[in-house]
Amino acid sequence: MAGAGGGADGRRARVALFPLPFQGHISPMLQLAGALRARGLAVTVLHTAFNAPDPARHPGLAFVAVPDAIPEAAAAATNGIAKILALNAAMEASGRVRAALASLMAAAEGEGEPWLACLVIDSTLTAAQKAAAGLGLPTLVLHTGSAACFRLFRSYDMLHHKGYLPSTESNLHMPIKELPPLQVRDLFDPSKLPNKEIGQKILNLATETTTNSSGAILSTFEALEPHELGMIRDELAPKGVPPFAVGPLHKLATAASRGAETSLLDQDRSCVAWLDARAPGSVLYVSFGSVARVTQDEFVEVAWGLAGSGRPFLWVVRRGLVLGVEGKQELPDGFGAAVEGRGKVVEWAPQQEVLAHPAVGGFWTHSGWNSTVESVYEGVPMLSRPLFGDQLATGRYVADTWRLGVLLEGVLERGEIEKAIRKLMEEDEGAAMRERAKGLKEKVRTCLESSGSSQQAVDKLVDHILSL
Ligand code: UDX
Repeated sequence: MAGAGGGADGRRARVALFPLPFQGHISPMLQLAGALRARGLAVTVLHTAFNAPDPARHPGLAFVAVPDAIPEAAAAATNGIAKILALNAAMEASGRVRAALASLMAAAEGEGEPWLACLVIDSTLTAAQKAAAGLGLPTLVLHTGSAACFRLFRSYDMLHHKGYLPSTESNLHMPIKELPPLQVRDLFDPSKLPNKEIGQKILNLATETTTNSSGAILSTFEALEPHELGMIRDELAPKGVPPFAVGPLHKLATAASRGAETSLLDQDRSCVAWLDARAPGSVLYVSFGSVARVTQDEFVEVAWGLAGSGRPFLWVVRRGLVLGVEGKQELPDGFGAAVEGRGKVVEWAPQQEVLAHPAVGGFWTHSGWNSTVESVYEGVPMLSRPLFGDQLATGRYVADTWRLGVLLEGVLERGEIEKAIRKLMEEDEGAAMRERAKGLKEKVRTCLESSGSSQQAVDKLVDHILSL
């Protein structure tokens, strides 16, 4: 490995990074930034004004705002896909990413200044990649989902060609033999969106940026997805796009990271003291991440399912979780009294610390990739309720491949919720999942040791960056 982030001439190198401005994408990018800095590289994070990270929480990193790259129209778009497409369009039109990169390159001309080696982009930011290409700056692509989803999103031509898509009522349970253990119902199906075209466009973005990149960085690790990573390596390496599996990113830079640094919302730490007073393994932690929304009816079923389960629970009810309610979410009448002394509700939790807490025995999650990896890292089995996009395939892997969780499918109904919670927290099936989760937890830690696969991948990544 080249020493202290220096190139062949000994001059220090700088890496610029540009995350997609959403929690599930900003966190892994900032964690990667921290890991690269720890290897001696200078690091600059480009960011939009929308969901801007707080530089004070990252003293070692430089930040450059690309002010209006996400215009009001994009920030106000009702769905995430429309936001991403609008952001790319605005970036291309304004030319501000190009200007920000050009200015970093000009600064690098100064004596003793690090040279700008590359731009690391979120896999959806095609416009940032085009801006870099126009300046002759290579890009690397960070994929914030699983290796399985990386493969899945590159397989849509095959899925259409073989007739799995568009899905129909009769083929939903059909196994996809080319991509086990996935079934048709686990696929994000663009034809089911009101605007099919934008669904297909979003799928193409990651493939396009990867093809045009000098390398793919994956937020996963060998112990979890050895088969998928092997297939990706076989496919990409001959195309000059080496893959680097550097996860779990939240533990790569600092072993003591609690996630407070990368969280866009203030974390309510009162729940930690509440957990301290609970018996080991007794609490179900419930959170659906930063963007997923549920209907009012589903919200009510979740509440009464938790109440009826008889289990202690910590539930994150973030503002905006329920469709149609923008402010603080009211809990159903009588719910507080029904769960008195047994349930705690917060608007946003210190999730990584919660999952590491001995009182937590299960995680009801929407199967967002960061949440899944954080749960795997702490050896906590899951109740998976995937809601959209990559979450559907992740939920299937949790249940069928890693066998670390119960998959909650179909209409959300309190009786089914109670049964699923009991299965996870009380029955033999859940106990077996807990044992497997403990076993995987040990393996994950070996990936992070100095000679482990993820640390080696970061070393290789740094060498690769310096060779660009
Ligand atoms: C999104 C997508 O939904 C997900 O499928 C994709 O893989 C990444 O982008 P999000 O829905 O927010 O992300 O879920 P997830 O990937 O799980 O990320 C949520 C992050 O917020 C986690 O890092 C988690 O630790 C953090 N979090 C969540 C908190 O800090 N506090 C909370 O109360 C809840």
